[in-house]
Amino acid sequence: MSDRIFIGVAWPYANGPLHLGHLAGCYLAADIFARFHRMNGDEVLMVSGSDSHGTPIMRKAEDDGVTPRDVVEKYHASFLDSFEKLGITFDLFTHTMTDNHREVVTELLLKLNEKGLLYGDSMKVTYSPDFQRFLPDRYVQGTCPHCDYLDARGDQCDNCGRILDPIDLIDPKYRQGDQRYPVEIRDTDHLFYKLSSFQNELLEWVNKQDHWRPNVKNFTRGYLTEGLKDRAISRDIDWGVPLPIPGYEEKRIYVWFEAVCGYLSASKEWAQNSGEPEAWRPFWEDPSTKSYYFIGKDNIPFHTIIWPAMLLGYGGLNLPYDVPSNEFLTLEGKQLSTSRNWAVWVPDYLDRLPPDPLRYHIAATMPETGDSDFSWADYVRRNNDELVATFGNLVHRTLTQVHRNFDEAIPDPGDLRDADNELIAKADAALAAVAASLTAVRLREALNGAMGLARDANKYIDSQAPWKQIKEDKNEAAKTLYTCTYVLSALKTTLYPFLPFSAQKLHELLGLSGSMIDGSWAIERPVPGTKIPQPTPLFTKLDDSVADEMVALLG
Ligand code: MF3
Ligand code: ZN
Repeated sequence: MSDRIFIGVAWPYANGPLHLGHLAGCYLAADIFARFHRMNGDEVLMVSGSDSHGTPIMRKAEDDGVTPRDVVEKYHASFLDSFEKLGITFDLFTHTMTDNHREVVTELLLKLNEKGLLYGDSMKVTYSPDFQRFLPDRYVQGTCPHCDYLDARGDQCDNCGRILDPIDLIDPKYRQGDQRYPVEIRDTDHLFYKLSSFQNELLEWVNKQDHWRPNVKNFTRGYLTEGLKDRAISRDIDWGVPLPIPGYEEKRIYVWFEAVCGYLSASKEWAQNSGEPEAWRPFWEDPSTKSYYFIGKDNIPFHTIIWPAMLLGYGGLNLPYDVPSNEFLTLEGKQLSTSRNWAVWVPDYLDRLPPDPLRYHIAATMPETGDSDFSWADYVRRNNDELVATFGNLVHRTLTQVHRNFDEAIPDPGDLRDADNELIAKADAALAAVAASLTAVRLREALNGAMGLARDANKYIDSQAPWKQIKEDKNEAAKTLYTCTYVLSALKTTLYPFLPFSAQKLHELLGLSGSMIDGSWAIERPVPGTKIPQPTPLFTKLDDSVADEMVALLG
C-alpha cells in the first residue's frame, strides 16, 4: 500500500549561499528520504523556500548597501542553482515574499484572532539610546537565564537551544560586530499568541511520539514541562509580512511565526502550479498523511512547539508525524562559522568537485544521533576507499569483463550455483533492510546496509576470480558475472537516494535506458543478452593534495 508523505524542510535565511552545515542539517537527509519514498511508489510532496524576512536579511542588506529584496533575490537564485547541481529535488522551493504566502499567513492569523487566541499587551523590549532604535532580538546578547551561557542571543540560546526574549537575558547588550552598546528596557504594545493555552495538549501529544529521536522528544518535553509562555508575534520593523489586525498595521509579523506558515503556503502554491489547486488538501487534511519536518537542532522548538501550537489553534490540519532533527556538524574539528569563513560554501565546492562524493560523505557522517565532524582528509579517504575502491571497482571489474568476454552483453548464466544464490539472497535482503532503515529515517544505517552488500560482492568476486574462470570454463565465468550484475542492479536502487547521479550512470552502464526517477524500489533482474556500453569509471580517485587545497580555502 502506498503512503502519502509530506516533507517540510527548514527554510534557509536568504542572506548567504548554501554551506555544508545546511546540507548536513537537513537538505541532504530530506532529499534522500524523498527519493526513497518516490521510488517506493509513495505520494510525496517536498517543499521549502527562502526565509526572506527578519533581521538577518535586513542586516545583510545594510552591510551590502542594497535592499532586502535584492539580497533575497540574489541568494534565492543561488539556492536554486545549488539544489539543482546537488540533486536536491524539491517539488517546490519558493520564498516568503510571494502574494500567496502573505494571503495564507493573513488568513491563518485572522482565524487565530477570531478564535480569541491573539491579544494585545504591553511588552518590555530592548532599546538602544546610542542608535535611538528598538533592537532586533538576535542582536541583543547577554547571559542565558536557563543555562548561564554568556553569549546567548536575544532570540535563542545557542547553548541550551531555548527560545528567549531579549529581556530574559541577564546583562543584555546590543551587539554590532565586535562592539557592545548598552541597552534600555522600554514598554511597547505588541500582539501575543496564547501559546500557554496549548501546553497540556502539546505535552500529551509529544508524550505519544515514541518514534521521535530521543533528543528531539526530550528537548521538547523539557521545554513543555517548564511551562510555555505566550509569545509576542509582532515586531517594530518594516521588512516582513504586515499584521492583518486593527491597530497593528504598522508592525510586521515576527519572522518565525510567518516562516513556519511557509510549509502550508508552499503546499498551496505547488498545488496552484500543478493545475490542481486543491491538491494540497490531502497532504494537510487527511490524517493518514505522514508529515516529516527535516530541520537542524536549533530549529526544534519552532517545529515541535510553535508550529504545532499554531496548527492546533487553526484546527483541521495535520501535526508533524516526525521531526528528525540533526545535530551539528563541525568542520575540521571546529565549530562552523560563516562570519569567520570557517565553512564550506556549496557553490565553491561545486566549482571544483562532483556532487555525489559530497552527498556520500555527508550521508556517511550525518549527525543523526550526535554531533559529527567533517574533515577533508576523511572526504578524500572515503572517496578513494569506499566510492572508488569498493563500489566503483565492483562496477568496473564486473562490466569490463562482461563487455570484453561476452560480446558486450549480459551473459546467460544457466543454472546458478549455491554461492551465486547466496549472494543474490543477500542482495534481496539488503533491498528490504535499506528500505526499513530509510523508512525509520536512519540514513547512516541505510547507507551502511547498501555498502555492506558491495563489500560482500567484492569478496565473492575475489573468491570466484572470473578472470581465471574465463580461461578455464567460460560457463563458470558467466554465472559469476551474471550474479555480479544482479548485485549491481540492487546497488543502483539502494544507493540511488544517496548517489543519484552515479546510480543513473550505473543504470546506463547496465544497458538500460530511461531515468531512475521512473523506476521502482525493486531489483530489476538483468536480462541475458542485454547490450552494455563500454564501461567508464563512476568515480575518480583523488590525490591527498585535494584535501590540502580545500583546507586552504577555510578561515
Ligand atoms: N531561517 C531559519 C534558520 O535558518 C529556519 C526557518 S524554518 C521555518 O534557522 F520553518 F521557520 F521556516
Ligand atoms: Zn541557554
